[in-house]
Amino acid sequence: LLFGTGLIAAAYLLGSISSAILVCRIMGLPDPRTHGSHNPGATNVLRVGGTIGKVAAAITLLGDSLKGVLPMLIGSYLQVTPQLLAAIGIAAFLGHLYPIFFNFKGGKGVATALGVQLGLHWAVGASVGALWLFIAKVLKISSVAALFSMAMAPVLVWLIVDEPALIGMQLIITGVLFWRHRSNISNLLAGKETRIGGGTTDKA
Ligand code: G3P
Repeated sequence: LLFGTGLIAAAYLLGSISSAILVCRIMGLPDPRTHGSHNPGATNVLRVGGTIGKVAAAITLLGDSLKGVLPMLIGSYLQVTPQLLAAIGIAAFLGHLYPIFFNFKGGKGVATALGVQLGLHWAVGASVGALWLFIAKVLKISSVAALFSMAMAPVLVWLIVDEPALIGMQLIITGVLFWRHRSNISNLLAGKETRIGGGTTDKA
């Protein structure tokens, strides 16, 4: 029990390290929590990062994904039960959303969820990532790419991993991720969502 609780706590603490906030601080960029969409995530780092936005966003994406990848790989390596692995994945994800180091005000969880999926099974992560990229490329809206690919994720976990606890983990992650995107969803409905590279959804 102590072992399991320790792994869950470690995953939560790692998840609590906000790459967006740290990258912007170190690279001298505006605080993503008070600029752009006010979200500490890779999309908003790209938005507020100016000429170095792409590099800063790539580092943010990598950092936030690793927070999901590492705990899942460690859990698998230690051969924990599917239930404990599911709890570890949820803890890493919730750490990103509610970080203990940043007043519990974190991001929306796309990169960390993708990392959890990659660590769970490379094919789940690769499929969700490919879906995200394809939709982002065609529509140029980060939130739609995230919502669509994460909606498909439980199906992919079912097809590829086929383990109830881990399908449950992905259902919870997807549900909470949609809840965290409610401002994006209302912006989309109002035609006011920001496109990648500038502009909003009402002027295509
Ligand atoms: O990962 C968050 C993304 O889906 C939307 O971010 O900054 O456009 O609200 P943002």
